[in-house]
Amino acid sequence: MAAPKGTLWPREPHTEGKHLVLENYLKAWFPILGMGERNRRILFIDGFAGPGKYEDGAEGSPVVAMRVLAEHPAEIKAEVVFFFIERKRDRADHLKRLVAQWRPRLPATAKIHVREGSFDASMTDVLDELEVRGRKMAPALVMIDPFGVKGMPMSVIRRIMANRNCEVYLSFMWEAMNRFVSEPEFEPSMDELFGSREWRKARNLAGGERRASLHGLYQKQLREAGAKQVVQFHLFAGNRLKYSVFFGTRHPLGSDRMKQAIWKVAPFGDFSFRGGERAQTSFLEPDFAPLQEALQEQFEEAGWVSIEKISEFVRSDATIFHTGQLRLQALIPMERAGRIEVKVNDRIRKKGSNYPKNCLINFRPEAPRFL
Ligand SMILES: C[S@@+](CC[C@H](N)C(=O)[O-])C[C@H]1O[C@@H](n2cnc3c(N)ncnc32)[C@H](O)[C@@H]1O
Repeated sequence: MAAPKGTLWPREPHTEGKHLVLENYLKAWFPILGMGERNRRILFIDGFAGPGKYEDGAEGSPVVAMRVLAEHPAEIKAEVVFFFIERKRDRADHLKRLVAQWRPRLPATAKIHVREGSFDASMTDVLDELEVRGRKMAPALVMIDPFGVKGMPMSVIRRIMANRNCEVYLSFMWEAMNRFVSEPEFEPSMDELFGSREWRKARNLAGGERRASLHGLYQKQLREAGAKQVVQFHLFAGNRLKYSVFFGTRHPLGSDRMKQAIWKVAPFGDFSFRGGERAQTSFLEPDFAPLQEALQEQFEEAGWVSIEKISEFVRSDATIFHTGQLRLQALIPMERAGRIEVKVNDRIRKKGSNYPKNCLINFRPEAPRFL
């Protein structure tokens, strides 16, 4: 779809996937960062906020975020600051009107700013000001959701990721990029987007190879910019990849919760959302054999390993699985099959289904397989 001109536009079916994952993640993010005494303030920054609503009445991302906070059952003690940046005046004005309607439903401590301007310049202002004052940014989830490839420089993402508890949730606009990759006019934007000139190599590739090359490069650049964990999922219209969402964080817990958020929306483990066509894939079963194999490979030569260490591996972006699946989908079946043994308080315990904090697990070496 070419970038729409009007204030509102129709929501394409695959866009729902991006909002559902955002909603699921925020449901976990608000209490993790906002409860307890640790953080006085947390930020949700929507850098390409849009008008807050689609033509058919569906919620835009700023409203999804405000609603999750308004409906959250836990008491979020931290002050929640919403910072919505939108370049087009009519869309920013539309969003301001929606914010006024939402204001009474939010905790009195919440603050909401709608800034009419560009993401790059507005974020740079904020980051410069913090730097001058020698301060760090409060824990933040920064959503970066453009229509195309312009206006989201890796240099800004690097400055965001330099703050300890800041995460990015960004749209990597594959279809637009694939169209523009050979057009000289887009070179400066692509250089900024990747923070590198290396993307030019993809011009000589086609189809899946080009896609893998550009996705791989972007992932590498995000890591260089400070993301220790990178999780991605893909939004399709039919069989056509429209774009991918990349999530970058410094913390394995963030990656775990993001993977959980994605599995809820893509329950077959393919990390893909096909707008309007979910029913077609309902005959699939998620396959957890790869989780068991990954654990076996990672730990079979490690002897007795603590359950914490195993959880940390599953939590990280080294697997597509999350810790909510570890016990039921991996440890219990592996123990039943005699592939692991479990020690609690230094004693080998009988087969069971409980893996307490202090337990140790030994992944038995697999018997060699003969063809
Ligand atoms: C894909 S839409 C955002 C949709 C919104 N995040 C949602 O999910 O509801 C992109 C929005 O960014 C705005 N925009 C375009 N360039 C921008 C820039 N450089 N900085 C901030 N906003 C921009 C557009 O006007 C448009 O409203």
